[in-house]
Amino acid sequence: MQVSLKGNTVIVGAQWGDEGKGKITNLLAGNADMVCRYAGGNNAGHTVVMGKKTFRLHQIPSGIFYPETLCIMGSGMVINLESLLEEIDSLEGQGVSTENLRIAQNAHVIMDYHILADRSREDSMGKAKIGTTGRGIGPAYMDKAARSGIRIIDLFEEDLLRGKISYHLGEKAKFLEGSGLTVEAVFNKTRAQAEKIRSLAADTPVILNQALKAGKKILFEGAQGALLDLDFGTYPYVTSSSAISGGASTGLGVPPSALGNIIGISKAYTTRVGSGPFPTELLDETGEHLRETGHEYGTTTGRPRRCGWLDAVVLRHAAVVNGLTSLAVTKLDVLSGMHPLKIARAYRAGAEEISSFPYSQTAFSRCLPVYEEMPGWEGDISSARSWNELPQAARNFLNRVEELCGVPIGIISVGAEKDETLIR
Ligand code: GDP
Ligand code: IMO
Ligand code: MG
Repeated sequence: MQVSLKGNTVIVGAQWGDEGKGKITNLLAGNADMVCRYAGGNNAGHTVVMGKKTFRLHQIPSGIFYPETLCIMGSGMVINLESLLEEIDSLEGQGVSTENLRIAQNAHVIMDYHILADRSREDSMGKAKIGTTGRGIGPAYMDKAARSGIRIIDLFEEDLLRGKISYHLGEKAKFLEGSGLTVEAVFNKTRAQAEKIRSLAADTPVILNQALKAGKKILFEGAQGALLDLDFGTYPYVTSSSAISGGASTGLGVPPSALGNIIGISKAYTTRVGSGPFPTELLDETGEHLRETGHEYGTTTGRPRRCGWLDAVVLRHAAVVNGLTSLAVTKLDVLSGMHPLKIARAYRAGAEEISSFPYSQTAFSRCLPVYEEMPGWEGDISSARSWNELPQAARNFLNRVEELCGVPIGIISVGAEKDETLIR
């Protein structure tokens, strides 16, 4: 299946991550000249199913399978070298070349002490923990903001690198006790890893801006989702990067005017991993049914995902902060056989009905969903390839989603495979 790309396009999560960004990026990547990741690190897990093979990408863009498509890991990312080298080896071992991969010189690096700091902070927070992926993401972005981080380019300046490592290990933080991390050990390990990726480090903003001038088609691959965005998500239960569409500009060094179409990816229901409020969460057998039917277990950590009904308040918020030009609705097949279907059109907080996203932590945690019910449909829909092949009840459901969110649905996904897709 080849889907035409109408100009540059951002693929962005419209919920709490795991919406199917990997599948949709891979679907569109065949027609893109470049695919660029702009945020997050190996907290992400993007699944690409091709025939009998399933690939789980954590840091490498989901366009890597097309040798003619240049794949860029942007400066908005934080990069775990060990995990990246494993990912490269795994792809190469399965016959996928990574010759077309480039890494921004100014992307920051996740160090082992970031991972220790992340896990130690989570442990110390008890019930208030964020439920991070434990990959050191927050501490790596903290060092970036504190201007003490290690960038890809710094890996090749030995004195600078050693100095930065000894600064961090010299902090005598509690989480370092008993870790066995010494300056020389960390330096040597990092230097060895760095040499293996030296040829991939590039001046990616120049490459990108030349491509823009030449009229090439660029696909920007988001990680996480709008509700996990550091600024616009369910703070503090968020990740530490700019997951929204605007992050593509700051995280790659391309002008905002270059972003083009912005496709929000949403499941036909909602999932979330980690802690934090989730108004439409189902803690009953319906939630269990979604988890089992949708195989809702984390791609990165294997944790069971929390499951619930579709939340139009969340999608409207995602539409606003991302400037969504269309939606791709995934996993519609998972709703088959469920009666009735529910969509939260608003929240109730006390006597008040709220239709827009409340930024107050306390208010959001108290919101209860106000549902609309719709009849479901029977039977397997994964072979549908056009709008008219969908049961009328499925079309009604999607039409109502469009009305509630004010964003047209352009792509409908009815299975994990690339071909299990309808273009409207
Ligand atoms: P991402 O992080 O947004 O790329 O999403 P993940 O890969 O973490 O999770 C999405 C999961 O749903 C993966 O296992 C996909 O293979 C699967 N998937 C994607 N689209 C569909 C779909 O339309 N139907 C079904 N049944 N599975 C899908
Ligand atoms: P993709 O790209 C789902 C969640 C974690 C946790 C919070 C903070 O596959 O959609 P972090 O490790 O980033 O500090 O954790 O964010 N989280 C994700 N949830 N999908 C992801 O990525 C996620 N990346 C982070 O579960 O709640
Ligand atoms: Mg994922």
